[in-house]
Formats: sequence, C-alpha cells, structure tokens
Amino acid sequence: MRAVVCQEFAPIDHLVIEERPDPTPSPGKVVVAVRAAGVNFVDGLFVQGKYQIKPPLPFTPGGEVAGDVVAVADDVAGVNVGDRVLAMPWLGGYATHDELAAGGVVPIPGGLSYGQAAALVQSYGTMLFSLTRRTHLAEGEWVLVLGAGGGIGLAAIDVARHLGAHVIAAASSEDKLDAARAAGAEATIAYETEDLKTRARELSGGGVDVVVDPVGDRFADPALRALKWMGRYLVIGFAGGEIPRLPANQVLLNNRSVIGIDWGAWTMRDPEGNQALLGELMTLAGSGALRPVEPIEYPLDDVVRALTDLQDRKVAGKVVLVP
Ligand SMILES: NC(=O)c1ccc[n+]([C@@H]2O[C@H](COP(=O)([O-])OP(=O)(O)OC[C@H]3O[C@@H](n4cnc5c(N)ncnc54)[C@H](OP(=O)(O)O)[C@@H]3O)[C@@H](O)[C@H]2O)c1
Repeated sequence: MRAVVCQEFAPIDHLVIEERPDPTPSPGKVVVAVRAAGVNFVDGLFVQGKYQIKPPLPFTPGGEVAGDVVAVADDVAGVNVGDRVLAMPWLGGYATHDELAAGGVVPIPGGLSYGQAAALVQSYGTMLFSLTRRTHLAEGEWVLVLGAGGGIGLAAIDVARHLGAHVIAAASSEDKLDAARAAGAEATIAYETEDLKTRARELSGGGVDVVVDPVGDRFADPALRALKWMGRYLVIGFAGGEIPRLPANQVLLNNRSVIGIDWGAWTMRDPEGNQALLGELMTLAGSGALRPVEPIEYPLDDVVRALTDLQDRKVAGKVVLVP
C-alpha cells in the first residue's frame, strides 16, 4: 500500500508518500481499499501543526474515506468483503488502504459516488448539527452563507435549501458563486467587491435571520450587522485567518444571538446524539433530499497541490484524493 506521511509539523510540501506492506485486519477491524479520501481545510492545519489538537508524529492525514471492504477480521459480523462503505477515521485516510474499526464503517447511502461519500460527513455533519441542533432554521427564513463555494459553505446551502430557507451565498469569485447557485442559492454577493451588509439587507428585504460564518476575519463584522431582529450568527471557523472580535453592542441591538459551533467536540460528548444525527444524514443523502456536489478529484500523488490549492482559496467546491 501507499500512504501520505507527515513526519514533522512543517509546510505542506514536506509531506512524503511511503510504500508499506498491505494491512491485515486486527480483531474488530476491516481493511478498506480507499477509492476517495476527503480533503478538508483542517487537514492543512494538522500537518502544519496549526490546529488546536496535534496528532503524534508521524501520522497519515485524512479524516474521511469511501471505498470497498477488502478484508474483514474473523470476529467481525455485519461487514463483508465487497461492501461499499464510508468512514470518518479522523486520521489515516490519505492512503490506498485504511484499517478501520468495523463499527465505524457504514454503507454508502443511495447512489452516491465514492467522491460524494468521502466528502459528505464532515461538512454535512457540521451543518446539519448547526442548522437543526444549535439553531432551528425555519422554512422561509433567510440565511447568509460566507465562504459559500467551499466545503462548509456548499453543505450549508444544501441543508438550508432542504429546510425550506432562502439562501444568499457570499464568496470571492464568479466560479464559487456559480457553484453556490448550482447548490441552491437564490442570490449571491461577491464580497470582495460588493458591500456585504448592504447587499445582504437589500436581497433579504431588510436583514437575514441566520449567518453561517466559516471564514471570520474582516467579513464577520458586516455579516453580523446584516442580521435582522432576533437574528442568529453561527461561528463555524476562521478560514480567513483572523479570529474576529464581534462588537457586543451589535449583538445587544435587535436581540441578536451569537452561537458557537464545535461539531467535533459534540460528537465526543454526545455519541448517541451524533449517531442519530448521522443516521438522519445518511437517510437524507440516500433519498436524494440532500444533494452533495460531485467533488474535484486530485490523484493521491498530488496531495501537496490539493492542500495548497485549498489553502490558497483556488478551489470552488469540495476536493477528494483518488489513490
Ligand atoms: N466548527 C466546526 O465544527 C467546523 C467543522 C468543519 C470545518 N470547520 C472550519 O470551517 C472552515 C471552513 O472549512 P471548509 O471545509 O469549508 O474549507 P474550504 O473548503 O477551504 O472553504 C473555506 C472558504 O473560506 C474562504 N476564505 C476566505 N479567506 C480565506 C483564506 N485566507 N484562506 C482560505 N480560505 C479563505 C474561501 O472562500 P472565498 O475565496 O470565497 O472567500 C474558501 O472557499 C475551516 O476553518 C474549518 O476548520 C469548522
């Protein structure tokens, strides 16, 4: 097998690819031949040692995989060689093969491709948690999504569309805004050139009900000010770099709420709640109620380019590595 290895916390181009013997499953485990591995913004932070959790070195990045089961330990029941599965292993996905806990793999729902399945759980899990557990997005409400052409942004649009909300997508380039429109956004704002607050207020007829913010930085302030009476501001991430300081008077005015989202921490504190959430996600994705985009594929050997393109804001859509 081949695996991407992070030997030291260093720039992305220090990643190497190593040859290793194919794994055989230890008790309770299965081996999956990876057909697609989801590439997430957070993976780039991991390998550079910029994330709040630092994995022990050396490690193989990659928290999302989809593929075929090729070996099953003798004590495992309910998973069979040949099953098409997805899993969220946290690390280890950037490889041709991954040894996984049998309890952690689930059948790929419906007719999803390996790529769609590998790119599903982190973005959609976060957004289903955000819009149905941390706040309750109601039919007919207006949602402003920042970074709308990225992984979280596109999932936010799809979940909000499914819940019957109106979506305004904000992003930096025309190809990202096109991707957002294809995912279901009704209106768009090119936030590098247009006034975010003014346009969001105009498009929504007075102010938005919910802001989904995975970007932070200089867009946070105008997005907060675009919220109407009782509006909710969802703090998801800081892809823009700077952690914003939100003015408390703008939260007080209009009875607004600022809501923090840490889906990963919640999955550990409430595994049963997360099981239910993931069950719901698989049902919605399998039935076609949710429509994840077909991701952009990079060969495993191009891992450095994939992570660099994501970090440099060049990607419109989701990215997967294909071994
Ligand atoms: N809270 C949670 O539970 C949770 C869960 C998953 C992810 N996250 C976080 O959410 C954030 C977004 O993740 P993602 O998967 O959507 O990432 P992504 O696919 O890379 O999208 C991020 C978007 O941020 C925008 N951006 C603005 N300034 C940027 C900059 N300087 N560098 C890079 N991107 C910039 C880009 O859109 P424009 O070019 O259009 O501005 C880009 O499309 C990350 O910080 C991630 O850690 C949080």
